[in-house]
Amino acid sequence: MKVTNNVYNVGVNDRDTTIFEGQYSVRSGMAYNSYLAVDEKVAVFDTVAEGFGDEWIENIKSVLGERAPDYLIVLHMEPDHSANILKFTEIFPEAKIVSSAKSFAMMRGFFGNDFSDRQVVVGENSTLSLGERNITFLTAPMVHWPEVLVAYDGTDKILFSADGFGKFGTSDADEEWEEEARRYYIGIVGKYGTQVLNLLKKVAGLDIQIICSLHGPVLKENISHYIELYKTWASYTPEYDGTVIAYASVYSNTAKAAHTLAQILKDGGERVELFDLTTCDIHNAAAHAFAGSKLVLTSITYNADIFPAMRAFIDALVERGYQNRKVAFIENGSWAPMAAKVMRARLEGAKNIAFAENGVKITSAMSAESEAQIKALADELMKNNS
Ligand code: FEO
Repeated sequence: MKVTNNVYNVGVNDRDTTIFEGQYSVRSGMAYNSYLAVDEKVAVFDTVAEGFGDEWIENIKSVLGERAPDYLIVLHMEPDHSANILKFTEIFPEAKIVSSAKSFAMMRGFFGNDFSDRQVVVGENSTLSLGERNITFLTAPMVHWPEVLVAYDGTDKILFSADGFGKFGTSDADEEWEEEARRYYIGIVGKYGTQVLNLLKKVAGLDIQIICSLHGPVLKENISHYIELYKTWASYTPEYDGTVIAYASVYSNTAKAAHTLAQILKDGGERVELFDLTTCDIHNAAAHAFAGSKLVLTSITYNADIFPAMRAFIDALVERGYQNRKVAFIENGSWAPMAAKVMRARLEGAKNIAFAENGVKITSAMSAESEAQIKALADELMKNNS
């Protein structure tokens, strides 16, 4: 697939996988992109995941014919991109490998070989000339591994962004970019907001017309929209003012409280999203929790703790740097309710959380008293709405 006249995507689409990296459900597969820049010299950017090496090599050969690549540029060493480095070196024995010193150390770990006879080590602002085309490298430490590089091609004004600006789904998936890119970003990169902001500062002065990510589609239009969204996500800023309600209920009494609150809020004009944590994708709920400005955690008390799905959800938030939000609690307990206390304690690692003054305590089933508490909580959540 052509990106520009002399740049191609020679990556592959995994249409069969339903789980990425052992925990993220994907409904439309996954793309492992690899790019090919053809000039006086030929460079391949990154390899593809295990099991797709033959298809990838065929894609390279279908563009190059008998010509062989001169360079394999390795921007990221996670195996969804690096699994075929060894295969590449065997098929193209003359090609050099261009990467960071940290990547070469990782190659020794992954392959027992750091390819010292064919290394080209690059770092911050290193350049590689392919002829007409010059590639400039920038380091992107912890976005989201330590060895990561991004590369800028000043000829076609392409940012090769490694995992950055990636999404779940094949490169041709017909779906909204924002939804699956947010879920990908929050899930996989979310913890490293500071490092992402540092990278965005580094590339701010570049004229970027095209973003070539290792996952998802090539982005060619409205580049500033994607960059602004990344700034929002990386700075842990809510995308909208509204409430996400996540609940864990077993016999529906707790669910009823969550739905009652949602209805009152909606009737009051509040934007609301509701997630049943016992049935939904926890990582989807977490990504949406990062989008909203307020969160209501609603759980039964279970084994003197909280329901496991709620525990997993809160952990997913805290692990990814959840912060700068308002949080409220609805708890249920038939004899010793303690879910609110446990949920609050599990959020201890989350920075800058404003806890709501109002909470809701249900003793088995909703009552006039708990309904009044829900109303008071709704009023508090909508207090600053215009
Ligand atoms: Fe797509 Fe961090 O690998």
